[in-house]
Amino acid sequence: MTKATDLIHHPYVPPTGFAAPQPGVYKASTVIFANVAAMRARDWQHKAGYTYGLHGTPTTFQLEERIATLEGGKHCLLVPSGLAAIANVNLALLKAGDEVLIPDNAYGPSKALAEGELKNWGIGHQLYDPMDPADLAARIGPSTRLVWLEAPGSVTMEFVPLAQLAQLCRSKGVTAALDNTWGAGLAFNGFEQGADIVVQALTKYPSGGGDVLMGSIATKDDALHRQLKLTHMRLGWGVGGNDAEAVLRSLPSLELRYRAHDRSARELARWLRGRPEVSQVLHPALEGSPGHEHWADACGQDGVAAGLFSVVFHERHAQAQVDAFCDSLRLFKLGYSWGGPVSLVVPYDIATMRRAWPHKGTLVRFSIGLEAAEDLREDLGQALGALSR
Ligand SMILES: Cc1ncc(COP(=O)(O)O)c(C=O)c1O
Repeated sequence: MTKATDLIHHPYVPPTGFAAPQPGVYKASTVIFANVAAMRARDWQHKAGYTYGLHGTPTTFQLEERIATLEGGKHCLLVPSGLAAIANVNLALLKAGDEVLIPDNAYGPSKALAEGELKNWGIGHQLYDPMDPADLAARIGPSTRLVWLEAPGSVTMEFVPLAQLAQLCRSKGVTAALDNTWGAGLAFNGFEQGADIVVQALTKYPSGGGDVLMGSIATKDDALHRQLKLTHMRLGWGVGGNDAEAVLRSLPSLELRYRAHDRSARELARWLRGRPEVSQVLHPALEGSPGHEHWADACGQDGVAAGLFSVVFHERHAQAQVDAFCDSLRLFKLGYSWGGPVSLVVPYDIATMRRAWPHKGTLVRFSIGLEAAEDLREDLGQALGALSR
């Protein structure tokens, strides 16, 4: 045999029984079968074995099982981004003539997906006011098949009456899917709140590094999981072994990190609330924030919250001054996404909501990272000087 063949078909097999704190990384498109009978007998849908890289490896199976546990579910599917998780749910549950209801404060690209893609396939959508269960009740009609829930809105930060909205869906026989990226499976249990499907952008807190894109779709119901899994297979979603390993490596510190983000965010949100430049701080765990009572219902009065909040500046500060504030920050970086070690800031223009937005000043969303809170406070203090310049 030539060296090339020897190196491809090397006979050495390492001993079994290796144990280490972290699972190994398995990477494959091709999975090798022992014989034709085994190949023919293998059912790709069952986790008893392996068929093809897209249908799972030991690494992705382990991550799926851990995320199912994190969400309090039974099954989990992995997809290449949080938005892909939303798309997979829509495509599995909706067909031409159906309608999906989306909260008006939802993650923006979820609305763009309905407007730019679902519409072309004859699937309708409506935005509803998630702070008003009567508005959702009025919009659920004979063609409504799916209702999206999200708590809180990830920019406007109002915490919605989650259990009430989910209960409404149940009473009307409509599937409720929750985007649980903010709660990360820690702040509350999406299934206990009444959701049938719980998706998460693992991109945020579970990855925790700002360096991985991934989404998850968790369910408790076997038939619903099968429906989602068939769509997953037909669309050809898959995640790479190295990315799955990066999330597996971050999961053991998820709760510690989430609590640290929360602690610093609340400290800074309270400090900003006392500043004369700020007209309102929107943070669901702080009294006086919209939906604070719903946050307490879902998460508990002493519950946790993500390290995310928004600030509305006084309207006397023009957009250009608020932009200058953002540009003056040194530790906070300008960037989308959240849940990583680096604190981030984004000025937003709230124009897509159905509801009247009560604030006139510019909204800035902060994602608090893992830097020391006092350093972040100092950075905010020096940048606030830019508002009066
Ligand atoms: C609430 C929410 N859901 C879903 C997503 C989508 O995640 P990804 O960036 O992995 O597509 C995001 C991303 O910002 C988000 O904020």
